[in-house]
Amino acid sequence: MSPLSSSLLRISGKTKVCGIIGDPVEHTLSPAMHNAAFRSLGLNFVYVPFHVRREELADAIRGIKSLGIVGVNVTMPHKTRVLRLLDKIDQPAREIGAVNTIVRHSNKLEGYNTDGEAALDTLSHLGDSLSSCRVVLLGAGGAARAIAYNLSKVVQQLTILNRTRLKASSIAAMARMRRGAECRSLELGAVNLRKEVSRADMLVNTLPVHVFPRFARLLIQERLVGSDMLILDINYHATGDFVAKAKQAGAKVADGLDMLVRQAELSFRLWTGRAVPFEVMREAAIRARATGR
Ligand code: ATR
Repeated sequence: MSPLSSSLLRISGKTKVCGIIGDPVEHTLSPAMHNAAFRSLGLNFVYVPFHVRREELADAIRGIKSLGIVGVNVTMPHKTRVLRLLDKIDQPAREIGAVNTIVRHSNKLEGYNTDGEAALDTLSHLGDSLSSCRVVLLGAGGAARAIAYNLSKVVQQLTILNRTRLKASSIAAMARMRRGAECRSLELGAVNLRKEVSRADMLVNTLPVHVFPRFARLLIQERLVGSDMLILDINYHATGDFVAKAKQAGAKVADGLDMLVRQAELSFRLWTGRAVPFEVMREAAIRARATGR
């Protein structure tokens, strides 16, 4: 059997549909991950990308109901705007203020946010207990907010560093309401980065690929990431050689691909009720990233 025919999906009248809505969506790795998972478990499901522009979002959301779609992932730029279009929002998504997964329960749509839980799963799989960790979180966008929501409940201290201090302090305030970690916010700059990372056990980077490398260079050159540190860089396109260098220095490092797969696992479970082997989705994501398909 050729690689093409073995990868063809058998669509029938009973095939259930999941997907992703975003703008753009051409480069998403999610269809590869979910379709590989459906095949590996023999489920008659298919996952497709839907390119949905801002002005079409409400129609697209109504379409989930009218077309009987099982559920969708939501990506940029719709994660926040979609909230007011759903029938129910689960508590984490409400408090984070963003939805990345929608599930249709008969004719009602419920929104979830699995980003923070995925980050927590990813860090937990690095092997250490997180409860005594002092964490430095870089950035204060939507991803940082979801991660802070989940991390703050389990770690000892959370320090958020961001260029715009006000955004960091707003996340710290939300995290403090969770009554877990001691939460602080500081302005992102070399002095604070040096001071905070040198006494941290965990570093989570949410700064994008065009911003993080200059901070990453400082961390590597000044040997601020060392053998007992847990690191998550949520970018899944390499931010220079940071991940490799941090591993060489003995840190336990996970990247954005690991987190993307954990997030996909959680969506998959919400739609199908089934668990999927992590490696099936991860290998599919790596193949799709390498081939651009
Ligand atoms: P997402 O929601 O995907 O996490 P985002 O909201 O675009 O992403 O957030 C991007 C992060 O990168 C923010 O923390 C942003 O800092 P500000 O809150 O000050 O905007 C940060 N960022 C973007 N460009 C930056 C730059 N040139 N220098 C430092 N930080 C930058």
